[in-house]
Amino acid sequence: MWLQEAQGFVMGQLTSNVTESATDLKSRIKRMPIVGQAFQWLSRTSRPLRIRLAQFNSSTYWDSRYANGGNSGNGSFGDLARFKAGIINDFVAENQIDSVIEFGCGDGNQLALSKYPRYIGIDVSPTALQRCRHLFRGDATKKFLRYGEPDANALRADLVLSLDVIYHLVEDDIYEKYMQDVFEAATRFVIVYSDNEEAPRDMLHVRHRKFSNWIGQNQPDWHLIRHIPNKFPWEEGTERGSFADFWIYEKGH
Ligand SMILES: C[S@@+](CC[C@H](N)C(=O)[O-])C[C@H]1O[C@@H](n2cnc3c(N)ncnc32)[C@H](O)[C@@H]1O
Repeated sequence: MWLQEAQGFVMGQLTSNVTESATDLKSRIKRMPIVGQAFQWLSRTSRPLRIRLAQFNSSTYWDSRYANGGNSGNGSFGDLARFKAGIINDFVAENQIDSVIEFGCGDGNQLALSKYPRYIGIDVSPTALQRCRHLFRGDATKKFLRYGEPDANALRADLVLSLDVIYHLVEDDIYEKYMQDVFEAATRFVIVYSDNEEAPRDMLHVRHRKFSNWIGQNQPDWHLIRHIPNKFPWEEGTERGSFADFWIYEKGH
């Protein structure tokens, strides 16, 4: 519905304002809230969606997003970041967690709110890792490694985090490997912050998955001990909030 509205709005602007150059009009529409995002999405999807879906590479997407000045997304700022940090920091303290590994640590905005005794952040994006190393220089409790590098494969921790990552793993083989790696690295707990439903792929870099099915089928030693709904749920239309919840798993419980 919003797509049709945006399409209609853009077409209306194009036909009503004949004196404005196409370039000026395009940049004016791009700057408009909501409509601008929809317009950019429409322009990007002008190539057949089928081809774009097949060519999309999540690692390349994230590194170029960071290299072009982008960040880890709305979920790592403001209310959402504080909500995430509050839940995880309390959990770490209550369960005497000594070591934490995060798969998909991002640019460090979320991490800046953390209180962990020892932490290793792993990411596919060299640019994000560079930012983290710079941001936390002098903090000997934090280390950052590239996902897939030999040193990262053998790491183990009491708690492994996957925050706002699973629904970005659009390729099946990458999703499968990521899930295996997350559970292999955890000795006591895994905290996932994601949605947990299959849903149509409405953006190139988002694929909604019912990851709990994968855990049930592939990790029989792991059990869901808590589901914490988001304090700031996704608001259709305003694009505020998040569709992710907390899902806390314990080994052998
Ligand atoms: C939305 S950001 C979330 C960052 C951070 N976890 C947070 O909550 O602020 C997603 C991150 O996952 C990383 N990522 C994507 N695919 C990955 C993969 N297969 N393995 C590890 N990290 C990945 C991206 O580079 C990006 O930094």
